Amino acid sequence: MVSRVIPVDPFDLVIFGGTGDLARRKILPALYRRFCAGQILDCCQIIGAARSELSNDGYRQMAAEALREFADVSDIDAVEVQEFLARLHYVQLDARGEDGWQELARLLSEDRIHAFYLSVAPSLFGDLAERIAGHGLARGEARVVVEKPFGHDLTSAKALNQSLANHFDESQIYRIDHYLGKETVQNLMAIRFGNLLFEPLWNSRYVDHIQITVAETVGVGGRGEYYDRAGAMRDMVQNHMMQLLCLIAMEPPARFEPDAVRDEKLKVIRALKPVAAHDVVRGQYAAFIKDGTEYPSYRDAVHDPASTTESYVGLKVEIENWRWIGTPFYLRTGKRLAARSSVIEVVFKDTPYSIFGADAGDKANILSIRLQPNEGITLEVTIKEPGPGGMRLINVPLDMSFSTALGDNEPVADAYERLIMDVIRGNQTLFMRGDEVEAAWAWTDPIIDGWEIRGDRPEVYPGGSTGPTGADALVARDGRVWRTIRP
Ligand code: NDP
Ligand code: BG6
Repeated sequence: MVSRVIPVDPFDLVIFGGTGDLARRKILPALYRRFCAGQILDCCQIIGAARSELSNDGYRQMAAEALREFADVSDIDAVEVQEFLARLHYVQLDARGEDGWQELARLLSEDRIHAFYLSVAPSLFGDLAERIAGHGLARGEARVVVEKPFGHDLTSAKALNQSLANHFDESQIYRIDHYLGKETVQNLMAIRFGNLLFEPLWNSRYVDHIQITVAETVGVGGRGEYYDRAGAMRDMVQNHMMQLLCLIAMEPPARFEPDAVRDEKLKVIRALKPVAAHDVVRGQYAAFIKDGTEYPSYRDAVHDPASTTESYVGLKVEIENWRWIGTPFYLRTGKRLAARSSVIEVVFKDTPYSIFGADAGDKANILSIRLQPNEGITLEVTIKEPGPGGMRLINVPLDMSFSTALGDNEPVADAYERLIMDVIRGNQTLFMRGDEVEAAWAWTDPIIDGWEIRGDRPEVYPGGSTGPTGADALVARDGRVWRTIRP
């Protein structure tokens, strides 16, 4: 199915940190793909800004290399690439100094949307916001885009929010959580609120428990320095996992509008019960060999033989509201696990009474929503096992892969493509509001503080496995098991 492309209004986008890893790997390729799709008009400008000394041509050359590496563009002389590169400019400036800002001001066109993407360390957000406003660039339709990590804890998140709020209204601030830009994450809302079938059953009366898994096969790679200060709790649970939890648990918003959706998500976060120490398991991966390749341990990867940072978290989460009280949510995420798989599994309760007798083997229905890879949904339904010999029950999957169902061979748009276009359109639905971020930290902080106070150490788990055994014990205590992690 070919998606409709509606061009966005003319804009100038300034990428502070335009020479950095995120700009090269994600932002520029996403803009290039939207340009090729016809969504970005020829008059738009993309302005990279950083301290390095570069000419416009130098920046275009750097961008061309980034496209070749990350956007799969083989022919850098292709007409489309040249047309895209012609939209690019570069300004040398320091977020903490005054040089270069007048030149940036001169470059920006009047009467159009101005988006300022702060693709720099969060410690520079305040300096940039101050100078953008101080140099009169935040005029008209101005937006500021910031990246995660949005703070390290509640105190730092509040300080970051304040540094932006000093110069921008909340309606101008776009906090990116790239999970919200994923096609299938948005599908969670369509599945829940576009079908009558599920909603009547979507509560603790019918749902036994819900599992949310974000399993990765990759390790910390070249980001060891950042990751070792963050760990899985700050890197994945406080943001991506929390957003998935909100979308699966929230009440239907009155409308599919930014604040209506974000209000409902916030209510979920505020209803989260503080997590007891015995309801969280931390893990750290060990070295392993797979298919003849040796993979280093977490500690080797971060060059700290004494690191106690977790690369895995499993936890039991309870939501104290009318809909969910009594239905636990089990969340787990980790690196160097058996397979790459992000999936939400809604395990329904058993039938109230089996008319087939205790030996028939009654099974619970399970709805699995696969976010990546192989996006789709599976509903396990109970049927009679074929053949004579009495009534024995088995579960069979009603399995739908979205790409097969839609007859779609086109690659799914990257989250950044959708999110950047939403910034230009002024649609904040898929961005985190300041109070949402703060509420998530308020819930996360005591868990992390508890580890520090108690001196907890993560349990080592074999790389390529399903995680620490403590995580199995966590669900087994409630008489449950984790679902298999499969690609
Ligand atoms: P990099 O270190 O690769 O790039 C930082 C950029 O900021 C460079 O362009 C650098 O250029 C510029 N910069 C640094 N100091 C200044 C300054 N004083 N004034 C102006 N520009 C400056 O970082 P990333 O691109 O990886 O990350 C950017 C942000 O995005 C960070 O907050 C990161 O946590 C976040 N993020 C990154 C992801 C990724 O995949 N890389 C994923 C999710 C979030 P120069 O030195 O020339 O000034
Ligand atoms: C990032 C985390 O936000 O999300 C990474 O910092 C993680 O550690 C990544 O690997 C996962 O994103 P995706 O899109 O690959 O599931």
